[in-house]
Amino acid sequence: MEIVILPDTTAIGALAADAIVNLVQRKPDAVLGLATGSSPLAIYDELAARYAAGQVSFAQARGFTLDEYVGLPADHPETYRNVIHKDFVDRVDFAEGAVRGPDGLATDIPAFCAAYEDAIVAAGGVDLQILGIGTVGHIGFNEPGSSLASRTRIKTLTRQTRIDNARFFGGDVDAVPTHCLTQGLGTIMAARHIVLVATGPQKAEAVHHLVEGAVSALWPGTILQHHPHVTVLLDGAAASRLQLADYYRETYQAKPAWQGI
Ligand code: F6R
Repeated sequence: MEIVILPDTTAIGALAADAIVNLVQRKPDAVLGLATGSSPLAIYDELAARYAAGQVSFAQARGFTLDEYVGLPADHPETYRNVIHKDFVDRVDFAEGAVRGPDGLATDIPAFCAAYEDAIVAAGGVDLQILGIGTVGHIGFNEPGSSLASRTRIKTLTRQTRIDNARFFGGDVDAVPTHCLTQGLGTIMAARHIVLVATGPQKAEAVHHLVEGAVSALWPGTILQHHPHVTVLLDGAAASRLQLADYYRETYQAKPAWQGI
């Protein structure tokens, strides 16, 4: 894992956007793995700005989102499909249908999940996966106890995740769906480059386990320690419980800027 501790979300957004723009310039039909939630917003803002400035095009790129609530009506503003369109997809020039996500209204859920896995493979696999991490240590919605080899499937959300996400549902935890479809940890691990973003003190414990803890289904993000190319972008608050924080800072400062992430 490469750990990069940056001053703020703007710096995080810029560095992640550099990596994505580089990828799409090198490989216009790149496959992006897209996360929803607060963590990637600075990345999407930066990419939308660079698109508006004519610096990047997503016209040939494809995308797969990580997860979706089960049972929300298609026109609900908090379906992850609607959120990713609002936050990113509709602000740039993806082709119609180029970004796909799990269908939280699928009638045959196992068949849908298997087809979603097949679609990712048929697209050539994910080149760069953007991730956030939950306070409980989930990536995607792989809650504690998830199989480290899991594939796209239905999961029950923990009470804590529903509390964390109640802010998107007017503060009403009971309005947050109880179930979701999520790419599995095995699915996420197949991405070629993973860029995980975490900011704020509420993420410090999850980041501590993610980076320096034992690999365990109790902290599902820890499986990323087995991935050959993970970049973890943190602010100082999210990095505050890292034992080797000074070493990570020195290592990154010593790296030639042209190497990127
Ligand atoms: C979202 C997702 C989740 C979030 C995580 C952090 O698609 O898969 O793992 O990344 O819950 O959420 P935020 O960024 O809102 O703190």
